Amino acid sequence: MKKRILAALLSSAMVVTLLAGCGATGAETTSEPAAATESGSAAGGKVGVSMPTKDLQRWNQDGANMEADLKAAGYEVDLQYASNDVQTQVSQIENMISSGANVLVIAAIEGSSLGEALDMAKEANIPVIAYDRLIMNSDAVSYYATFDNYKVGTVQGTYVKDTLDLDNAAGPFNIEFTAGDPGDNNAGFFFNGAYDVLKEYIESGKLNVVSGQKTFDEVATPTWGSDVAQKRAEDILSSYYADGTELDVWLCSNDSTALGVETALAANYTGKYPIITGQDCDIENTKNMIAGKQSMSVFKDTRTLAAQVVKMVGQILSGSTVDVNDTTTYDNGVKVVPSFLCDPVFADANNYKEILIDSGYYTEDQLK
Ligand code: BGC
Repeated sequence: MKKRILAALLSSAMVVTLLAGCGATGAETTSEPAAATESGSAAGGKVGVSMPTKDLQRWNQDGANMEADLKAAGYEVDLQYASNDVQTQVSQIENMISSGANVLVIAAIEGSSLGEALDMAKEANIPVIAYDRLIMNSDAVSYYATFDNYKVGTVQGTYVKDTLDLDNAAGPFNIEFTAGDPGDNNAGFFFNGAYDVLKEYIESGKLNVVSGQKTFDEVATPTWGSDVAQKRAEDILSSYYADGTELDVWLCSNDSTALGVETALAANYTGKYPIITGQDCDIENTKNMIAGKQSMSVFKDTRTLAAQVVKMVGQILSGSTVDVNDTTTYDNGVKVVPSFLCDPVFADANNYKEILIDSGYYTEDQLK
């Protein structure tokens, strides 16, 4: 009975997954949900879920979705948030291991800094799924589940290219970049995805990076903090735009950095409002999109990712083939980690109702 309920739950999770564009698109997939196999060991067991911080809306949603889905599938859950402090995250993971976790799901604060905890997991034979962010330089990581991070960047870059009609417009247009945390392996993928689309226009002079800051290291935002992004934006605005130079685009890798840039613009810039990109569709940023203060975001449905990871947990614990659709992209320095990439979705003021409200992600009231 329990098995049938679990099978039904996982089947419906799979339907949600497919509808949300997270369906398997390649190799090494199973056609059946794990719990429908006869091994019968999928239900039960303890899953440690380690999240980076409660400061950013998305991780609260990720954690809540993971906890609810795992519990519904019959697992005990140990969910911890590490206040963006690496040592706290290491201790929390070690506690999860000591208290008997069978699988660990980890969204790392810093991809390369979990060494001791991962060694302990490996010794105890506990499989580790890297959640959203790849865990670097360790062979203890078994699988990786995320969104297609490079594609997030290409969606942002393509938006800029299409909106400015870069192939036809005379230009030149002025642009600045703000990328993410260098300790987060995703950040480089986002930046490169966007930059690769825009590179030819920067090289031809149609896009002019007025500050001259265009390498990842120059435009990175340690901790992804809005305050950090705001400070750098203020410095750039006062150094390069105070004379009335117009800014056409500020390409931001995500919503927390976009918020910082938006705050800096509000107080320090009076020219034509630029195109601003983002990622996550956080509530504040979605409100800003509706108000015309942010041009677009990239929606990564955390329900979809959670459902996929719960499915992978079941597959691991039941010894079935684990769903992956990418076995080449994510090299963590020690191994290429078999990955499942969900599909990110373009969002703006025109389609937010359909993708965010109609899908039940937010209520209309939350966006008022
Ligand atoms: C996530 C983004 C998020 C950023 C800051 C990245 O690893 O993929 O969705 O905006 O971290 O928390």
